[in-house]
Formats: sequence, structure tokens, C-alpha cells
Amino acid sequence: MTPNELITKGSNFLKQNNIKTHMLDSELILSSVTGKQREDFLLKDDFKLNLKQIKSFNDLISRRALLKEPIAYLTNKKEFWSIKFNVDKAVLIPRPETEILVEKIIKYYKGRNPFILDIGTGSGCIIISLLREFKKSKGIAIDISNKALNIAKRNSINYDTFDRLKFINSSISTFDRFKFDIIVSNPPYIAQHQLKNLDKDIKNFEPKIALNGGNDGLDVVRKVIYKSRKILKINGMLALEIGNGQYKKVSQILKLNKFREKFFIKDFRDNIRCIFSVLDHY
Ligand SMILES: C[S@@+](CC[C@H](N)C(=O)[O-])C[C@H]1O[C@@H](n2cnc3c(N)ncnc32)[C@H](O)[C@@H]1O
Repeated sequence: MTPNELITKGSNFLKQNNIKTHMLDSELILSSVTGKQREDFLLKDDFKLNLKQIKSFNDLISRRALLKEPIAYLTNKKEFWSIKFNVDKAVLIPRPETEILVEKIIKYYKGRNPFILDIGTGSGCIIISLLREFKKSKGIAIDISNKALNIAKRNSINYDTFDRLKFINSSISTFDRFKFDIIVSNPPYIAQHQLKNLDKDIKNFEPKIALNGGNDGLDVVRKVIYKSRKILKINGMLALEIGNGQYKKVSQILKLNKFREKFFIKDFRDNIRCIFSVLDHY
């Protein structure tokens, strides 16, 4: 069987099992088991697949089709800000919405070298992307999950930012070192009672600690805002990702904590997704 025949077979099976991105997923899975680029299959279809590769391909296709396991966990890769991050079930799969946060910070701080804290770093996608742009910046990445930090460390080694980045296994509640120019966070923000309504591929596979924001979804958001007030430099920026419909409440919490909102950004579906605010005085 040629690579393209196998891709078509996998894609058909995924389609029968209602996977919308069936062709792409099938290509990504074959790419992952062969170590080849997706484009290689388009250009050249004459290389031989060995039995082990075909078996791995079939296993991964079944997991995707029948268990709805996310493609990023099957291939252990997710592209974010044009680089491929290592991921596994210990970390949230980086989302395109979070790139909005990164894009805005890069534009706003162009030409500067801010000292950055990333709260709840997960795979490290935010802070590593930022440090790759701000070549002389340093940063700290904290996470309550040690397993997540290990993945983030590996990513920072792969993408040449390890010498400028310190990793700390801590909850934001107990962290209070240094003063930062930017604090960025994509905290868990799904209300606990809504977790059961999430799509199967999210609720059955992504870490609860990365999703669960407590009763109203804002438990960790509150902790981040409260602590940022103490560890942000005056005029420092807090860049927060929030969930759908949380803007009003988060705005109030920011105001109560002496933050002045600078701007917000909407996502591709027109929901307010990120809030940027500055600390005027203590
Ligand atoms: C939504 S994920 C974001 C991961 C990554 N920053 C991203 O944008 O893809 C939230 C992360 O916050 C971490 N976390 C949850 N509660 C925390 C806390 N109290 N203090 C620090 N990190 C926390 C989780 O372990 C998880 O890695």
C-alpha cells in the first residue's frame, strides 16, 4: 500500500466516525509515524512503508476515530506561533486563540526587552514564543503541575530559550518573587459545572487542572489578578486570557484591584478573549 492509499483509507475511516478534519488528521498521523513532512506524500508517493509503521498508523487512526483522542496527543505535537511544541496529556493543547495574546504583546513591546512572568505555563507555548521574539528578555514560567513544567522545559531547550527562562513549580497563590514588566496568563477558566458539557476530546483527555476554574470559572483568574498587583512593576502590563461571557466580571475584579484597563481583544468568533490592563498605583 502506498502512503497516499493509506492516508485515504485512514481518512475514510475517520470520516465514517464523524471526524470533520479527517484528511488532515490522517496525513498528520502518517507524518508522525514516518517522521516525514505532510508535503512529502504529495510530492513523492513511492517510498515503502514497513509493517511497524502501518500498524502504528492503524492504531492511532482507531484511537482518533473511536475514542476521539485529540490529534495533538496522538502525534505529541502542536503548532503554535509557527513552531511545533511537544505536548502530552499533562498539558493543555495550545489554542489559536492564545496566539492573539502573544501577537498583541509582541506588537506592543516591539524594540524592548521586558521581564516576563507566565502564570500556568503548561507547554510553555506563550513564554517561549515571547522570548523568541524578545531576544534579550528573560522570563519566569510557573505552573502548579510539575509534569507540565517538564514538558515546558523540554520545549524551551528545543527552541533555544532555556538559558533565559526559569521554571518554578508553584501555585500563583504562594509565589511572590521579583517584579515584572509583563505578567501573562491563560489560566483555567471553565466553571466546574460546565466541564461535563465540553466536547469529548477535551473533557476525556485534557488535564482538569488546566480547565477547571472553580464555581464561576474565575477562581484562578482572581488569584492571578490579586497576586499581579503585588509583583507587577508600576505601569507593568497584565495580559489575561478569559472565557466567553467573563469580561464584565473580570473587568470588575481588575478595577477593585487598582488595574486600569487598556484594551481588550476579540477572538475569531467575536468573543472578548484577552484583556490588557496596567497597574497605576498600589
Ligand atoms: C489553560 S492552561 C494554559 C496552558 C498554557 N499557558 C497555554 O496557554 O496553552 C492553565 C495552566 O495553569 C496551571 N494552573 C492551574 N492552577 C494554577 C495555579 N493556581 N497556579 C499556577 N498554575 C496553575 C495548569 O496546570 C495549566 O498548566
